[in-house]
Amino acid sequence: MSEMGQVETFEREIQKLKRELNAVILAHYYQDSEIQDVADFIGDSLQLSQQAAATSADVIVFAGVHFMAETAKILNPTRTVLLPDLNAGCSLADSCPAQLYKPFRERFQDHVAINYINCSAEVKALSDIICTSSNAEKIVRQVPASTPILFGPDRNLGRYVMKVTGRPLRLWEGTCLVHETFSEQKLLRLKLRHPEAKVLAHPECEERVLRNADYIGSTTGILNYVRKSAASEFIVATEPGIIHQMEKACPDKTFIPAPPENGCACNQCPHMRLNTLEKLYLAMRNFRPEIDLDEDLRVRALRPIQRMLEMS
Ligand code: 13P
Ligand code: SF4
Repeated sequence: MSEMGQVETFEREIQKLKRELNAVILAHYYQDSEIQDVADFIGDSLQLSQQAAATSADVIVFAGVHFMAETAKILNPTRTVLLPDLNAGCSLADSCPAQLYKPFRERFQDHVAINYINCSAEVKALSDIICTSSNAEKIVRQVPASTPILFGPDRNLGRYVMKVTGRPLRLWEGTCLVHETFSEQKLLRLKLRHPEAKVLAHPECEERVLRNADYIGSTTGILNYVRKSAASEFIVATEPGIIHQMEKACPDKTFIPAPPENGCACNQCPHMRLNTLEKLYLAMRNFRPEIDLDEDLRVRALRPIQRMLEMS
């Protein structure tokens, strides 16, 4: 069967299984276009957790990475949560193991611990408030000025929030391997060739990239900027999976992925891209891999997520 024919077969089977299982497919913008095209909802981390909290479906098929599917399970324990590839992790979450974070958190007990949603359930359970890239600034601004803040695991997002709020944050030194790859030199050369292009960057990028950006925001923020902007060319400094929705929303505009340091495809998230349309279909057919969580851990991880949802 041709590749096209195979995609169509998977799409058909997925739609059938969706009805049979009363399932909803939630997908992050960093997924392959084929996966985005079968999803019921595509969004950034905050929107996906809001959708997971609100769904009435019996089965949540999470096309994203492990911490996202785990968050869906924390919010909705009575639903079955399927992740097409259980190995779809996150370098940022891996950079903050709970056994290392725990003594750090205990050393600064007078601090409020705010952690980016890109962390494990164990780290969430040690947090006071969870945030995402779209609400980090808003949440930090709601903490009384006299209360010191621990912020992790992404130091780039932390530095960005410090800059825009003027609040000192004690940072965990984690990073995302994708957002660290962009080259400032190459970005500047690209800008010379496209002087009218707007540079859009995710706050997980290094400061050397952020200082050249016309807009900094979450994936949804970046997409909304593109929709509203009068500009017709954009340089996109985040995972290029998002360009699929940009092209759908604005077919007459041009999107150029920001160049990584070397000629590799390392601006693609190797974890997100472990999911494929075939694995998505197989997960629905076989009803696994499924996210399973210890109930005590789930309850402890839920509290800071609920605080985030209330404060967003
Ligand atoms: P947002 O979904 O908040 O834009 O974050 C991007 C990301 O890196 C998710 O892993
Ligand atoms: Fe994690 Fe970065 Fe991949 Fe997002 S893009 S899932 S932060 S490794």
